[in-house]
Amino acid sequence: MLNRRDFLKISAAVAAVSPLSAVRAQSSSTDSSSEVSAANSLRAHAEQHGLLVGCAVAPERLANDAQYAALVAGQINLLVAENAMKWHALRPAPDKFDFTAADAILAFAESHNQKLRGHNLCWHEALPDWFASTVTKANARQTLTKHIETVAGHFAGKLHSWDVVNEAIDPASPRPDGLRVSPWLELAGEDYIELAFRTARQADPKALLTYNDYGIELDTPKHVDKRAKVLALVQRLHKSGIIDAVGVQSHLSAGDDVSGTGLRDFVRELRGMGLQVFITELDVNTQKAQGTVADRDAEVARIYREYLTHMLAESNVTAALTWGITDRYTWLNSPRYARPDGQRQRPLPFDADYKPTSAFFAERAALDSRPAAADRL
Ligand code: XIL
Repeated sequence: MLNRRDFLKISAAVAAVSPLSAVRAQSSSTDSSSEVSAANSLRAHAEQHGLLVGCAVAPERLANDAQYAALVAGQINLLVAENAMKWHALRPAPDKFDFTAADAILAFAESHNQKLRGHNLCWHEALPDWFASTVTKANARQTLTKHIETVAGHFAGKLHSWDVVNEAIDPASPRPDGLRVSPWLELAGEDYIELAFRTARQADPKALLTYNDYGIELDTPKHVDKRAKVLALVQRLHKSGIIDAVGVQSHLSAGDDVSGTGLRDFVRELRGMGLQVFITELDVNTQKAQGTVADRDAEVARIYREYLTHMLAESNVTAALTWGITDRYTWLNSPRYARPDGQRQRPLPFDADYKPTSAFFAERAALDSRPAAADRL
């Protein structure tokens, strides 16, 4: 006979393979239960419009939180690792690679018929502790090349796309091209971005190679300036034929005016170059927002609806990912983004109890607003 522990284990396993019924069962006592069932999921609505809808995930939660795993499996058709494919996660030591956690995400995605993005191969953050004492001008190019050959090689043919270089432009940089003064720039030289893309292309010719950045979404002077510098960099990479897509992170904040036309023009410029655009890390920060919880939810939903509707009207925007799926685990509840009143942020399509938020309905409506292929710009 099954004891309770075995029963729970098996339930968790079934939830992993049969996510939709699990979500239905778990939320059957709520009004929102039918909203998250198979036919009403973000995933189903995205697929009706030929879109990819995604979220960042953590492998330990996929393994240990059955409700979370069920949501990810049922709502999403494109995953990205929130942290598990960054340098510090994959590189315990200069001569070691550990793919255990990253492979667990790939296995989850494959078993649920989902695509997976790689994030990321080259960034000035999330470097392992040994980096500063080990990487020098003499060995930086070789260190970068070896990392990309090994990591992109490990996943070759299995990923939808790679964020090859993340956040390389900094409007505060003293350089006219805006290249961030980072360890990579200083140690590997000013063509380190080309080196990274070329190496990634060779290691995994099938993945869509992406340049990913933030602070380029709005029409504020700072965003306009950064967007122009990102465009110049992308044009440079495009001339060499080593880039396929641009990731617009889309970490937005309450109060943001997302009605400007600058981002749309940027997306169209990229379309003219044959490049795709992915919304890679959408969420809405309410750290400083006033009003009731309901007011703030409405503001988060407004931004989701307006921003996604504008972006998804552009035919080369093919994927929209949120940075997490449930408010329970959002990075915006880390101390850095904590609200002064101690209330938790609610930036994602599902709340901390896994119920759909106003942002869920806004996101789903925006997916449905995708013009039919024939009508697309
Ligand atoms: C964040 C993760 O969400 C956090 O858990 C981690 O502590 C720091 O990194 N831009 C990116 C992401 O490209 O990798 C960042 O993810 C969020 C900002």
